[in-house]
Amino acid sequence: MSDTRISIRYASEDLRERADALAAELNLSLAGEPAGTPLVLILDGHGLSLALTASDAPGPIQVDFVTGRLGYRQARINLRSEPLARAVGIKGSERPSVVDATAGLGRDGFVLASLGCQVTLLEREPVIAALLADGLERAARDADLAQTIARMHLVTGNARDWLSALDEASRPEVVYLDPMYPHRDKSALVKKEMRVFRALVGDDQDAPETLEAALAVAKRRVVVKRPARAEPLGARKPSHQIPGKTTRFDVYLTG
Ligand SMILES: C[S@@+](CC[C@H](N)C(=O)[O-])C[C@H]1O[C@@H](n2cnc3c(N)ncnc32)[C@H](O)[C@@H]1O
Repeated sequence: MSDTRISIRYASEDLRERADALAAELNLSLAGEPAGTPLVLILDGHGLSLALTASDAPGPIQVDFVTGRLGYRQARINLRSEPLARAVGIKGSERPSVVDATAGLGRDGFVLASLGCQVTLLEREPVIAALLADGLERAARDADLAQTIARMHLVTGNARDWLSALDEASRPEVVYLDPMYPHRDKSALVKKEMRVFRALVGDDQDAPETLEAALAVAKRRVVVKRPARAEPLGARKPSHQIPGKTTRFDVYLTG
């Protein structure tokens, strides 16, 4: 049976073949009119995007490294002051290899790759991985971005399994985790991305176990992004914290 949460729609006949391939790969049916599923994956001339179908739904989300908020030029301006850079241990010419174990829409991974790190992106939700793959493909065609994108390697699968299967020689220096966290204030106006995301991936309840798997393999450190005032993940005390206004990074030194 195909996925009952999502169907796929394509904008023009020339995209049909790619839509069919994606439908087969992701086990999706073609969207009716109305879609008939709470979420719809849309393939058009701008690539792949994902939208909620409810009447009050926000617009679609898409991975856009070229013109989006994370566009290359923007990223470059902010990089030096990026707390994420400090959190993963970038200093001087040191550029640790990073496994981004909760890749999502790839923003943090992109920042790290922009800074010069080799980044393996792990994403277990195949639809999110498909959005990310599409964004990476488009960005790789942009001359300004090609080098950065070449440092990003996407793997679809569960980080816990993937990390546990690594042999000694493949252990990364750093594992980065940014799991979803439960909302305390349900009435808060949630950003559109979060609404779409939450409908698809829910809360990452198993994040403490993913942290344990990360701690077992990271050669230097594990970094966890948390809401500024949240408890440390799994109540595991970090070695130190890098505070921010709304979020902070908990750093676990393993080396
Ligand atoms: C909050 S989002 C990450 C956002 C990301 N840092 C960014 O900058 O776009 C969390 C993502 O991690 C994924 N995820 C959570 N646990 C995972 C695991 N054990 N293995 C792979 N992906 C996981 C979820 O499916 C979700 O897409």
